Amino acid sequence: MSQSFLVSLCIVALSFGVHGRQTTVTPKPRFVPLRPAAATSSVELTLGLPATNIEGLHAALYDVSDPKSANYGRHLSKAEVEAFVAPKPDSVQAVNDWLAQHDVHPEVISPSGDMLRINIPVPKANALLGANFTVFKDQHSGTTLVRTLSVTIPDDVDSHLQFMYPTTQFIMPVNQSPRFEAVNPPKASTRRQSLPSICSVDVDPECLEDFYHIPTAPANASGNSLAVSGYLNEIASEDDLEISFLAFRPDVTTTPEFSVVSVDGGVTSGSGTLEASLDIQYTVGIATGVPTTFYSVGNPFADGFIDLVNFLLAQDELPLVLTTSYGFNESDFTGAEALAESFCNAYAQLGARGTSVFFCSGDNGVYSFSFNSLCDATDFGPTFPSTCPFLTSVGGTQGFSPEVAASFSGGGFSNMFARPDYQAAAVDSYLTRLGGQFAGLFNQSGRAFPDVSAQSVDFITRISGGSSALNDITSGSNPGCGAQGFPTMDGWDPVTGLGTPDYEKLLALVTGLGA
Ligand SMILES: *[C@@H]1O[C@H](CO)[C@@H](O)[C@H](O)[C@H]1NC(C)=O
Ligand SMILES: *[C@@H]1O[C@H](CO)[C@@H](O)[C@H](O)[C@H]1NC(C)=O
Ligand SMILES: *[C@@H]1O[C@H](CO)[C@@H](O)[C@H](O)[C@H]1NC(C)=O
Ligand SMILES: *[C@@H]1O[C@H](CO)[C@@H](O)[C@H](O)[C@H]1NC(C)=O
Repeated sequence: MSQSFLVSLCIVALSFGVHGRQTTVTPKPRFVPLRPAAATSSVELTLGLPATNIEGLHAALYDVSDPKSANYGRHLSKAEVEAFVAPKPDSVQAVNDWLAQHDVHPEVISPSGDMLRINIPVPKANALLGANFTVFKDQHSGTTLVRTLSVTIPDDVDSHLQFMYPTTQFIMPVNQSPRFEAVNPPKASTRRQSLPSICSVDVDPECLEDFYHIPTAPANASGNSLAVSGYLNEIASEDDLEISFLAFRPDVTTTPEFSVVSVDGGVTSGSGTLEASLDIQYTVGIATGVPTTFYSVGNPFADGFIDLVNFLLAQDELPLVLTTSYGFNESDFTGAEALAESFCNAYAQLGARGTSVFFCSGDNGVYSFSFNSLCDATDFGPTFPSTCPFLTSVGGTQGFSPEVAASFSGGGFSNMFARPDYQAAAVDSYLTRLGGQFAGLFNQSGRAFPDVSAQSVDFITRISGGSSALNDITSGSNPGCGAQGFPTMDGWDPVTGLGTPDYEKLLALVTGLGA
């Protein structure tokens, strides 16, 4: 594995009889070992093989995503993307030979063949990897997880394996707890009111449509499709959606719908839960008439996120948009950078095929998910996958006149992903004006996020990255733990990105009609 761990002994070692490169980790004290994993239990591991030409994929993605390129919008075919990420035959051979020696036969879980999965008894996993799989308890969440403090990969396999998960990685799922209260919608109204009255009490789909100039007519062009993903057993209810429509979209006479697809055994029915209900009611409520699918993913850990992408990549027709309000602490991937890269490259594949991928930028201001009540963090806490450069990270705003930054909007700079060219000018300009403020608390050369923002609910449209079609937000900051937080400024800032969308201007921009 080409991972370098915070605490690692990257040496040729003989560990429990396995010769090769040993990786050893010391997890945070919150993870307490309970007992060796039962010999009768199994571990399911995902293996990532290096891509044939990942730089080629990145270049192709940027080319089709840049409105100034002749190839703008000419997305890649399934086969073209797979050709970039497929593993080299040598890698396939080396990994399969190694596993076969242990009578382990992997399942190919990605359409390009770059990811494999094995499900093997604990004693066999221990022998294969020179490991000691152990049950740990996360004292913060109470969750138990099976991990090992050490793995050894044979030298002739090492360079052919990008990651093997979950082994030594202690990465906990977190969701962005929405700043919303569940309410009973008001009685059905019969006509649309006008701004500002409709936004004066609550932010609802009708208000957002008006405020961001989104047409209320059905967006019924053929091929339109939208995917919302949910984790942690979240589910939206069709009945709640209908009630929400009666109140907030009296102009729509057809029954609002969404379909539910289960991945990794995700729940498909039940009474609606908050995050999923919010996500569905606002996407279906705003993207009028766009076929919407809720992907309910049963596994909230990193491999569940990857499974959803592989599930989508296997389809011939992809949704035009995938939006997700869940994420991780980027710092949890320290030592598992290769896993974060593969994870991020999975979104690059979706993007290259034409899916716009959106993630929330996180909560708790500059500390994001790394916020805790002790305020003992040594630096600001970036959010993953928001720090992946191949997707659009969305921050939060509040209020309407003026629209200002939501103080809890996650935002900042990656410690893992370098700043992509497409944001260099805007971010450099911000950093120059920021001066030396917060030096040492964030990584000046990292990918900056969020890219854009919206009223702090999930808000979906296709966004091209041009700034002229956005409402620049210049008031507010994202404080945390006594730190003032990054201030908003003219242009891009790490609180609200380039600003909030204006549908009419965006449409003009992408259709070349001039804004
Ligand atoms: C494996 O880990 C357990 C703790 O879960 C420990 O008691 C045991 O000694 C370890 N076994 C070896 C061979 O290191
Ligand atoms: C789309 O909806 C409009 C009504 O808003 C209708 O006039 C038009 O025929 C519809 N087009 C398709 C392709 O269904
Ligand atoms: C994220 O990381 C920080 C810093 O280690 C930690 O304090 C925080 O609890 C983590 N958050 C979650 C949700 O795991
Ligand atoms: C800062 O980010 C870059 C990637 O942009 C990374 O290579 C470097 O290690 C990071 N520095 C620290 C101190 O995390």
